[in-house]
Amino acid sequence: MKVSNTCSTLASQKHGRQAATDGSELRVLGIETSCDETSAAVVARTAQGHGRICSNIVRSQWDRHRQFGGVVPEIAARAHVECLDALIAEAMSQAGTTFGDLDAIAATAGPGLIGGLMVGLITGKMLSLEHAKPLIAVNHLEAHALTVGLTDRLPPPYLLLLVSGGHTQLLAVDDIGRYRRLGSTIDDALGEAFDKTAKLLGLPMPGGPSVEQTSLAGDPNRFSLPRPMTGRAEPHFSFAGLKTAVRHAAQSIAPLSDQDVADLCAGFQAAVCESVVDRTRRAIGILRDMDTGNPIKRDGQTDVEIQDLVVAGGVAANQQIRTALAALAASEGYRFHAPPLALCGDNAAMIAWAGAERLVRGLTDDLNAPVRPRWPLDNTAVPALGAGLKGAKA
Ligand code: KG4
Ligand code: ZN
Repeated sequence: MKVSNTCSTLASQKHGRQAATDGSELRVLGIETSCDETSAAVVARTAQGHGRICSNIVRSQWDRHRQFGGVVPEIAARAHVECLDALIAEAMSQAGTTFGDLDAIAATAGPGLIGGLMVGLITGKMLSLEHAKPLIAVNHLEAHALTVGLTDRLPPPYLLLLVSGGHTQLLAVDDIGRYRRLGSTIDDALGEAFDKTAKLLGLPMPGGPSVEQTSLAGDPNRFSLPRPMTGRAEPHFSFAGLKTAVRHAAQSIAPLSDQDVADLCAGFQAAVCESVVDRTRRAIGILRDMDTGNPIKRDGQTDVEIQDLVVAGGVAANQQIRTALAALAASEGYRFHAPPLALCGDNAAMIAWAGAERLVRGLTDDLNAPVRPRWPLDNTAVPALGAGLKGAKA
């Protein structure tokens, strides 16, 4: 779609900048359709930078994809089309907001599955045009990264472990729009490894919650599984080998009893935790070396050193990983932050919040903004050695 950007530009001048300075609350509608959750939300942001969720409707598509053992892009796109309008109406009604009250429309533009992204972004563009409101084309990874600003009022800078179905990265979040990628996975994303492990053990999708739940009854020490990448100098990740080790262990004792499955899940999760903690500790060390004597300047004001560790993304809902990271942060003198469980997975509240943060900085987009199935937060990061080009899901 190619349409005139006049409305968006005018609206951003009229509403965005005015609302940033007059002390009133901003209200932003968020739209999320990058993968297998359709979501619409309204979030308010005060002039002091505090956020409030007025509504956040999330509809999972897993009943459609389960029989295929994973997300089918075409089915996902159609499912978004079917319910997005109704979800937006519900989100607006729950928030008690009219389109006239909104200050902007924020929609995920990438990374993710192209069909779903097009559904959400085009819907956002039409609403922006119809109601003369600024459009913000949001990076889904940035939305995960900034969620703690909404939930914990935590501003950058901080160290972020972003763990989802399509991404596993350690990033220095220096400011909104300023990211340094320190490490990433050379093969599977962590959520993907959870999902594949669940599948090979015959557990229901999505795999992360299934593996976590099943592991509670398991013995993490029964099987000897690798701790991938531990001790390596660069804080990269790898999970494909661990998943294969689980497969071999399962094949060696098949047929599996319920106890076998629980022990394999517990062993897998323990290995994941050790690897993630080791890699994050390494990133903290690297940041200390990089930032000593060179602290980050935020908004051109006081120098700030990174002292906060944040975990975000779908896998951040995993209790064992949260506990392990909290212990790591305490031992390193860092504060630890994790969004509430409901805001770890994909949701439109985080999109609306990222949109609000961009709006107050005058960072709006015009109606020609493209969908970007691949859209790294740090364009300058070189791929980790051994990394292939992996899927674009966030
Ligand atoms: O962020 P998200 O909702 O979607 C993407 O942008 O990818 O993350 C989804 C991923 C899935 O792989 C899912 O299995 C995983 O997050 N996940 C979990 C848990 N809850 C969701 N992984 C481990 N433990 C959990 N409790
Ligand atoms: Zn996500």
